[in-house]
Amino acid sequence: MITFKKIDATHAYAGMARIQGSSIGFVPTMGALHDGHLSLVRRAKEENDLVIVSIFVNPIQFNNAGDLEKYPRNLDRDIVLLESAGCDVVFAPDAAEMYPEPIEKHYDFGGLETVMEGAFRPGHFNGVAIVVDKLFRITLPHRAYFGEKDYQQLAIIQALVKQEKLDVEIVPCPIRREHDGLAMSSRNERLTEQMRAAAPAIYQWLLHARAMAASHTAGEIEKMVIAETQKNPLLRLEYFTIANEETLQAVTGRISPGDRAFIAVFAGDIRLIDNLKLI
Ligand code: PAF
Repeated sequence: MITFKKIDATHAYAGMARIQGSSIGFVPTMGALHDGHLSLVRRAKEENDLVIVSIFVNPIQFNNAGDLEKYPRNLDRDIVLLESAGCDVVFAPDAAEMYPEPIEKHYDFGGLETVMEGAFRPGHFNGVAIVVDKLFRITLPHRAYFGEKDYQQLAIIQALVKQEKLDVEIVPCPIRREHDGLAMSSRNERLTEQMRAAAPAIYQWLLHARAMAASHTAGEIEKMVIAETQKNPLLRLEYFTIANEETLQAVTGRISPGDRAFIAVFAGDIRLIDNLKLI
């Protein structure tokens, strides 16, 4: 496995691999890797000749300076994990390499970026789109792998690829969960023992929503989930929304195929998100 810190070296390597006829699978990450990331790497390895993983904690997608500062980082450990998962190339630039000067681009994704995460984290998806567009242009992937835990991000990346006419196939990958249902996330590392014990309730609420989907309206389900979250002293609900998985616009009436429940919760200052297809 090779590790590059520089854009030019990574781009040259990927370009040469393409000329030699290799297919490239790309997994963008912010490090602090867990089995969810590694499952993307393993899948990329099965489907491509060469796997490139980026590790870059992208400052411009954090709307909260404290969150950026506390985001877990452990490059040495990540490199060991990536080697064992079959990664070929790690691209781990620093912020000066990625942003020698500020990028002023402003994307419009037709409303996908303004709801749910976008409403609570202003500018977040613009920062994600800027960095992913840049990473694609550096690593030249045929396929790029994204987890469905960040479902809204996945929808925005699909819109980005269309809008920018990027020649890359986006491969959505199912959410990986711990044995008790908690969605795997780099942020889970920061949970205290008590918070960690409380956090699986998030998935239980989603399951409860799914169990009610055939017989209740979105509004009724939302009310029920909000009431359940209020009984849990360690988790503070930011939003629970039922939305169509293509438009991401909120659903209020009966649940239809393609509707999904989305949730964001705080455990202390740690923000956890999850989602589940309802029908
Ligand atoms: O999902 C993430 O880890 C990040 O948003 C991504 C896609 C690596 C962009 O920084």
